[in-house]
Amino acid sequence: MPVACNVADDSSVIAALDAAEAADGVARIVVNCAGIPGSMRLVGREGPVDMARFSQVIGVNLLATVSMMTKAAARMMTLDPLDPDGERGVIVNTSSITAFEGQIGQGAYVASKGAIAAMTIQVAREFAANGVQVLAIAPGLFHTPMAADVPPEVDGAITSDAIFLRCFGEPEDFADLRLSMIQNPMLNGEVIRLDAGVRLRAR
Ligand SMILES: NC(=O)c1ccc[n+]([C@@H]2O[C@H](COP(=O)([O-])OP(=O)(O)OC[C@H]3O[C@@H](n4cnc5c(N)ncnc54)[C@H](O)[C@@H]3O)[C@@H](O)[C@H]2O)c1
Repeated sequence: MPVACNVADDSSVIAALDAAEAADGVARIVVNCAGIPGSMRLVGREGPVDMARFSQVIGVNLLATVSMMTKAAARMMTLDPLDPDGERGVIVNTSSITAFEGQIGQGAYVASKGAIAAMTIQVAREFAANGVQVLAIAPGLFHTPMAADVPPEVDGAITSDAIFLRCFGEPEDFADLRLSMIQNPMLNGEVIRLDAGVRLRAR
């Protein structure tokens, strides 16, 4: 059931969770995937970075993830456990390999995705007593509208650094990993790179 939601707007997040809950009960699985790119040098030809643009990327990629994760987890924590181990649900956030090999001109995006990666074990620890597991995927490059603007020469340079396969990933590969992470009860507090072994260059 699709529900329109601006994840950067708290009231919209609450309304979406309310609508989902009314239709199907409290969600035990939450996948945070919304995100925006944001190329900008921290000090460019026009001077220091525009903090409003920087904040917008942090707002959608990081703060909205925290907003949805905490609001959804608080609801999950009211549910009965699914099993004697006390499992109540799982949240899977979306980081990026730029969290680990930040490229020139990607400061806002790197800050947002790095924070999501860093928070994964912290939040998993915080929610553990209530049986909510927290995970993240750090994708490399995937064929989605976000990556559509990557020029072919950049595409080639990035994928040629991959170990194998030397190509963009497909959304299905990403969805498969999500599903298997959700299904595996032994995974918690982990950020998994899905990138064919690529290590990003400086630019
Ligand atoms: N495509 C890649 O190569 C790649 C690599 C690393 C990480 N990621 C991450 O994967 C996630 C999915 O990205 P994608 O590649 O599918 O990009 P995409 O642009 O195709 O999809 C992003 C989605 O987020 C939605 N969105 C943006 N702002 C929103 C808001 N305020 N409220 C609700 N929805 C909003 C957009 O409408 C869009 O549907 C993002 O978090 C992105 O940063 C993508």
